[in-house]
Amino acid sequence: MKMLQTIAEVRQQVRAWKQAGESVALVPTMGNLHEGHLRLVDEARGNSDRVVATVFVNPAQFGPGEDYESYPRTLDADRELLSARGTDLLFAPPVEEMYPRPNRAWVDVEELDRHLCGASRPGHFRGVCTVVSKLFLIVEPDSAFFGEKDYQQLAILRRMTEDLCFPVEIHGVATAREPDGLAMSSRNRYLTDSERSLAPELYRHLQLARQAIIDGERDYASLAREMEKGLKNLGFTPDYFSVVEAASLAPAGPEDRELLVAAAARLGATRLIDNIGVTIVRSP
Ligand code: PAJ
Repeated sequence: MKMLQTIAEVRQQVRAWKQAGESVALVPTMGNLHEGHLRLVDEARGNSDRVVATVFVNPAQFGPGEDYESYPRTLDADRELLSARGTDLLFAPPVEEMYPRPNRAWVDVEELDRHLCGASRPGHFRGVCTVVSKLFLIVEPDSAFFGEKDYQQLAILRRMTEDLCFPVEIHGVATAREPDGLAMSSRNRYLTDSERSLAPELYRHLQLARQAIIDGERDYASLAREMEKGLKNLGFTPDYFSVVEAASLAPAGPEDRELLVAAAARLGATRLIDNIGVTIVRSP
């Protein structure tokens, strides 16, 4: 596996592959890789001739007081993992390569960023969309792979790709979980032992809500409040617990059929997010 740090070298390498008629898949990450990230690489590998992974902790998507400085940077280990999984090229640019001067051009996806994480992280998705646009224009991939764990991010990036006519096929990949159900995340390493043993409760509450909906519950606001209360009693500080319509991400109504139950909550210093889909099958 090759590792490159400049945009010019990446363009040159990808163009050579394309001239040889090879398809190219992109897997963007912020590094500190775990099995969830590597599943994206596996899917990309199965789909394309060449896999380009990126490791870049993108300052533009962190708000003031968030964990940009302390975000775990483990490039040597990431490099080994990506290489072992069959990645062809790792692009790991320094910040000055991606943002050589204050950025004045931004990519925003309206409406979809108002709900869920967008409500409490102003500017976060603008930072994500801008860096992913840059990566699309640098790598010019045929396809790109993103995790369903960050469902709102995936929905926003799909919409951005359609609305701006990027010639990139977006693939969503199922959430990889620990055996106890906790969604894998680079931020899980911040958890203390006692927080780690509590953490799967987030997914359990999503499952409880999903089951209640399947059993006929349609008062989604009070269901969400009940789940939030349960999490609070266990020691979480919930940011939101919401039942939304899966396409618009707006609060779900009783007529909606494709739903997403999504939650974000802090455990000590760690912010955890997770979600689960629910399809309501009309009774015969
Ligand atoms: P990061 O948090 O490193 O995640 C990189 C990709 O891995 C994202 O598409 C994310 O959804 C996916 N991922 C993370 N945990 C996963 C899990 N448990 N199962 C499946 N996929 C998982 O998301 C970002 O970085 C950034 O916002 C980025 C898109 C790279 C832009 O900077």
